[in-house]
Amino acid sequence: MKLWGGRFRKETDSLVNDFNSSIQFDGRMYREDIEGSMAHAAMLADCGIISREDRDRITAGLKSILADIEAGKIEFSADNEDIHMNVEVLLTERTGEAGKRLHTARSRNDQVAVDLRLYLRREIGEITGQILDLQQAILDQARGHQRTVMPGYTHLQRAQPISFAQHLLAYGEQLKRDVTRLQDCKKRMNVCPLGSGALAGTTYPIDRWRTAELLGFDAPCSNSLDGVSDRDYALELLSALSILMMHLSRFAEEVILWCSWEFKFIELDDACSTGSSIMPQKKNPDVAELVRGKTGRVYGHLMGLLTAMKGLPLAYNKDMQEDKEPVFDAVDTVKICLPVFAGMIATMRVLPENMRRAAGGGFINATDCADYLTKKGMPFRDAYTTVGNLVCYCTENGKLLEELSLEELQSISSLFGEDVYEALRLETCMEQRRSYGGPAVEETDRQIRELQAFIEEVRHG
Ligand code: ARG
Repeated sequence: MKLWGGRFRKETDSLVNDFNSSIQFDGRMYREDIEGSMAHAAMLADCGIISREDRDRITAGLKSILADIEAGKIEFSADNEDIHMNVEVLLTERTGEAGKRLHTARSRNDQVAVDLRLYLRREIGEITGQILDLQQAILDQARGHQRTVMPGYTHLQRAQPISFAQHLLAYGEQLKRDVTRLQDCKKRMNVCPLGSGALAGTTYPIDRWRTAELLGFDAPCSNSLDGVSDRDYALELLSALSILMMHLSRFAEEVILWCSWEFKFIELDDACSTGSSIMPQKKNPDVAELVRGKTGRVYGHLMGLLTAMKGLPLAYNKDMQEDKEPVFDAVDTVKICLPVFAGMIATMRVLPENMRRAAGGGFINATDCADYLTKKGMPFRDAYTTVGNLVCYCTENGKLLEELSLEELQSISSLFGEDVYEALRLETCMEQRRSYGGPAVEETDRQIRELQAFIEEVRHG
């Protein structure tokens, strides 16, 4: 018979039974469910609501259930609907009367809310660690390429010279924000709904601060209706994960471009690429493509849960059982993407000659040419037009700016002198960009130092 079977005269229809059951996907919260129950039992005993003997029997029973689940000895049953009832039924089988007292002053509505917060809080910790690993891989590559000149792009058109380190470190910054977004999300998530009951709290003299403290929450949530209805924390996490995936997807897109024959800026390690079943020459960036593809799936989960929540009256509604699969799948997806992505970045081989060759075409020193004239006294807007004319002349004559003779240059402006050739060298152009945040080595040094400090701080701070 169902735990709630007392009010019913008929068995549940078997289709309805399967339809209603969530154990197939909420079973993964067994640890959190047991942890929450132990804290609840401890609080009930502290408040004199159950005896200490019952608390000890409950605690021992829950520990044995946990050990058996972890040893693979327990098969959950769909008849017991969800993880909460599965654990309670097992506990009652093992401890009798004591087990039957555990659900005093509690409902599955506050139980599921506390389990999910505990579960996601732990996952945030793991995902954060994985982001830091990716940042470390980025840093390690960046350290070796502070002087590797590559074309920086806008509109995917060659724009100005940067270093490969500078380009990589931009992703390091994006990931920093992802880490802090997750930290913010965890902070707001970290309030305890336990003791909200079904919706209206309880008549027992419970101590909600005690359970909050035992479970490592900052405080109990302030309103019992809100405690059982709120899924903002899951939505916030999905949104932080969507932004994270968007970053990975942009990075993935560049990796895909960079290892194409058209760019050939990098070569992926054999261990991180795949072949074709028909084309013997192929080496494909499947890891990057899958990360890009899986991004859509995480966005979809965010939209799915937002939509599931949008029309729900207070307080708990069964619709909310639909929160778990999207948020679990999003977490799982991010957790498989991050480590393979980090491995791919850590092992990719950078081809500086090809970057340098690409930087050589496309007039990416044109801004520097205009800046040269400006520093000699010409107003920037005039210098801009002058260099525009020079670029036009070069295109018509199949030359680069630095290939023009001094006579050719001076025929356009007498401000040009011998020193223009040094000013147009791409290494100079990059190295002179010393403004805060720029690609000059001293600036990438600073960015590298700061990112390393960030990683250490989050890891150990
Ligand atoms: N399994 C449910 C969920 O995931 C929790 C149980 C609350 N069910 C109920 N009928 N009050 O949301």
